[in-house]
Amino acid sequence: MPEPLLKIRDLHVGYGKKPILRGASYDVHPGECLTLLGANGSGKSTSLNAVCGFVTPTSGSVMLDGIETAGLPPHKIFAHGIAQVSQARDLFPDLSVEDNLRLGAMRRGGKQQAQTLSDIYERFPRLKERRRQATRTLSGGEQQMVAIGRALMSRPRLLLLDEPSGGLSPQFCEEIAQIIDRLKSEGVTLLMVEQNLNLAFRAADRFIVLRDGQVVDGGDVRAMAGDHDAIVRNIYL
Ligand SMILES: Nc1ncnc2c1ncn2[C@@H]1O[C@H](COP(=O)(O)OP(=O)(O)OP(=O)(O)O)[C@@H](O)[C@H]1O
Ligand SMILES: [Mg+2]
Repeated sequence: MPEPLLKIRDLHVGYGKKPILRGASYDVHPGECLTLLGANGSGKSTSLNAVCGFVTPTSGSVMLDGIETAGLPPHKIFAHGIAQVSQARDLFPDLSVEDNLRLGAMRRGGKQQAQTLSDIYERFPRLKERRRQATRTLSGGEQQMVAIGRALMSRPRLLLLDEPSGGLSPQFCEEIAQIIDRLKSEGVTLLMVEQNLNLAFRAADRFIVLRDGQVVDGGDVRAMAGDHDAIVRNIYL
């Protein structure tokens, strides 16, 4: 087994005095997709935000390929190769699709940027057709593609996806699953939060369940052979 790309140990995160993560520990291996499951408010988004630096952990360790990133500001963590597509997508609605995409590659040179932009348009032909359109005029699914495309513009080693299927049609969920399959085949590692269990189990290699700020369950998706009932009970009951 290769060393994990991301190693989280005894992570504590709280807002004010309210503890949310209380000693969460887990690994993400290179090239895999790990899905975080858990009830609403169980701390899934908080976990991703702690990894990308949007919130600062109270204690514990977040190691990316041997580098301690806990406590670093978001731009430094981004520079180490971690990009997040947040639950709210955080796009600039009045900017064009192309300008939103370009913002993801601010750190990279013009030539590399142009190459990556054509790569994104090859992945998402719908965005190429709409590249001059204001982002707010796109459908929800198209906006999610812009958000994913923008994160990919930075060529991340680790991509964090917070509920990529949120509010989208089953057809779009399948498209997301295909995007994830392709990224995995290209060696991108993914840490995803997903409430849609069909997508979660279709796209992920492994899953973990968060409850009361700790990891209470987890396993290999293929080994479950489609038997998800016990997991569902563990998440929601
Ligand atoms: N910035 C914040 N300030 C105060 N409390 C917060 C903040 N962000 C999140 N919380 C609280 O922390 C808890 C965990 O929130 P989080 O967003 O991590 O949950 P989640 O598992 O992603 O839920 P959901 O499935 O609804 O997206 C919630 O009770 C939430 O109200
Ligand atoms: Mg959330």
